[in-house]
Amino acid sequence: MFEAVGVLAIKLGVIPSDFSYAGLKDKKAITYQSMVVRKVTPERLKNIGKEIEKKRMNLFNIRSADDFLRLGQLKGNHFDIVIRNLRNQKNDSANLRERILEAIENVKNKGFVNYYGPQRFGMGRKVHTDQIGLALLKSEMVKSVKLFLTPEDLDDPVNRAKKYFLQTEDARGTLSLLPEFRVRERALLESLHRFGVTEDGCVQAWFSFPHSMRVFYVHAYSSRVWNEAVSYRLATYGSRVVEGDLVCLDEDVDENFPNTKVHLVTKEEEAANTYAIRQVVLPVLGYSIQYPENRVGQWFQDTLRRDGLQTCRFRVPALKLNVPGCYRQILKHPHNLSYQLMEEQDIDGKTEGPHTDGTTLSLSISFDLDASCYATVCLREVMKHDF
Ligand SMILES: *[C@@H]1O[C@H](CO)[C@@H](O)[C@H](O)[C@H]1NC(C)=O
Ligand SMILES: *[C@@H]1O[C@H](CO)[C@@H](O)[C@H](O)[C@H]1NC(C)=O
Repeated sequence: MFEAVGVLAIKLGVIPSDFSYAGLKDKKAITYQSMVVRKVTPERLKNIGKEIEKKRMNLFNIRSADDFLRLGQLKGNHFDIVIRNLRNQKNDSANLRERILEAIENVKNKGFVNYYGPQRFGMGRKVHTDQIGLALLKSEMVKSVKLFLTPEDLDDPVNRAKKYFLQTEDARGTLSLLPEFRVRERALLESLHRFGVTEDGCVQAWFSFPHSMRVFYVHAYSSRVWNEAVSYRLATYGSRVVEGDLVCLDEDVDENFPNTKVHLVTKEEEAANTYAIRQVVLPVLGYSIQYPENRVGQWFQDTLRRDGLQTCRFRVPALKLNVPGCYRQILKHPHNLSYQLMEEQDIDGKTEGPHTDGTTLSLSISFDLDASCYATVCLREVMKHDF
């Protein structure tokens, strides 16, 4: 998405920060994104339509707007997904169709655990985004920059340049090795070259990124802790609502309003089953949140100590980072779910299992999710399988 904005900005003669939008979209999908761009007339936008088609982008519904969009001004997302080549994971004889329908009905009725999806952490990479966020929270500036520039085990120009940097801290030499298209890394290295690979120099280097990117890394750390917390909560208390749990009494928990009112469940309320598990929230770390007051609260304290954050205020003034935190529901349901099973020709020709006639089973599934829920996480629950 950042790349798309970059291309549009160049074509329109504006800068990327003239664009506003309400959320980020997945990289590996055909996605639709509402955007507002300032200083550009609808006619100008219509005129570049043909050109940007070459970049595999289209512009729709072009019109004047009175206001910018803000991150979080989003009700939810609609997903249309096809899963091909379905097979039983284990060698059991259960009817595949029945298994699929059962799994879908299960998620429809019971919902799914509202984990942050693996995309948020840069899964599959050596350094995950949450590790960079933790270093930032601990004001370990040089470490955070080195984590950011850690190479993958690949022998290509970008990773060779990064490897050279970690070995030498020679920002200038790294710049000469790093391809032009790595705009972000280059901006960072220019800054390191100018200010030095010191704690102060690395603070300057982080300012070569927009504020939203610095915050993104810290949020990644908070998201990782939240994922671990919800696993602990469910393993410890299951789907009972217990004393010391936090519940949110509003129907819609909005993560973008840190002042959401939460309530600590009392012993009497636990006994009377006053609340349902779907009302239970867990805090996403920040300076204005309240913790549960049961074993989960203790877990948060232990985890912060483990990560060296027992005194963290979730503010890093040097980087203008102030993270209030918020609350996130532990269970979510897909809305408007519909699906269809289809026989398709096996494209790979690698048919295994029950179908030997050159066809495989595909599932076409559509649903709506509230903002900041992950379709990958909902699907993982259906498929009992990581991607
Ligand atoms: C799966 O089951 C079939 C038929 O019962 C058997 O021939 C095959 O060896 C089994 N495969 C595995 C991986 O267990
Ligand atoms: C369900 O679909 C309808 C029609 O497309 C839509 O208006 C509504 O917002 C959807 N519900 C949710 C919760 O997304």
